[in-house]
Amino acid sequence: MSTAREYSKEDLKLFDEIKNGRTFKEGEELPETYRKNLLNLLWMQGDSEYAGALGYMPWIAKAPNAHERVLVAQIVKDEMRHAHAIYRILDKLGQETHEHCLKHEFDYRVPDDKSNIGFTRAKTDARVNIFYYPINYWEDFCLFNFLMDRAAGHQLEDTLHSSYIPWKEAIGPIVKEEAMHLAHGDKTVKEMAQNPERKAFLQERLNLWWPRVMNVFGSSKGLSNDIYIRLGLKKRTNGEIREVFLKEIQDRCKEWGLVLPVYREEDQLKA
Ligand SMILES: [Fe+2]
Ligand SMILES: [Fe+2]
Repeated sequence: MSTAREYSKEDLKLFDEIKNGRTFKEGEELPETYRKNLLNLLWMQGDSEYAGALGYMPWIAKAPNAHERVLVAQIVKDEMRHAHAIYRILDKLGQETHEHCLKHEFDYRVPDDKSNIGFTRAKTDARVNIFYYPINYWEDFCLFNFLMDRAAGHQLEDTLHSSYIPWKEAIGPIVKEEAMHLAHGDKTVKEMAQNPERKAFLQERLNLWWPRVMNVFGSSKGLSNDIYIRLGLKKRTNGEIREVFLKEIQDRCKEWGLVLPVYREEDQLKA
């Protein structure tokens, strides 16, 4: 069960100041609690964007037609740019992102196509763990846009109000580009769902990807992301964002005749 955190007097004072509108600019000295949590979130985003770009990359050549090749190339370029924008913020905070990228195996993917690693991590980089799964079929690529780009888009919307100004300023164009990626997912998944020759395999792949994307929102057994909200780095809990995401996916799947598997957190904790 989650346990309440004990916060120091300085932390409580900081939470109050942030609640009353305090923000932090580039180059400003950051309170230790703030810096530590900000770095966590930035590394998680930067590494996810970078691993995402590399995972999508082979699909420039493997896309089903010339038009799709252009769209996939655009998406790869967007993700690479997102990684660069976030790593640049990290570098200015004294982190060494280039060395970090060389040190970690960003093209690593779990070998078993049907595996489920639950809430665990496969390596020591900071990517969200869905980026450890391989994209082996065109259906996977499109489902990734449909599911994960949508989940990320909702999570990044909170950063539009971030108390850390350099991050807030970088996020606007990123959110817009993510909207294009998920629109690509919606269009292609809908078309495949309506094609009797493709629907069964699409459903099979959706069954695999569904728990993986739901796990992105974390386990309710862990500590909550309360501290990120108190620091003005997020606005909503993971549970609240998950509800918005879930409703959008349920509505579309119902309309297109796809079935969402039952997701049970207990199964993921055992994985
Ligand atoms: Fe991205
Ligand atoms: Fe994306």
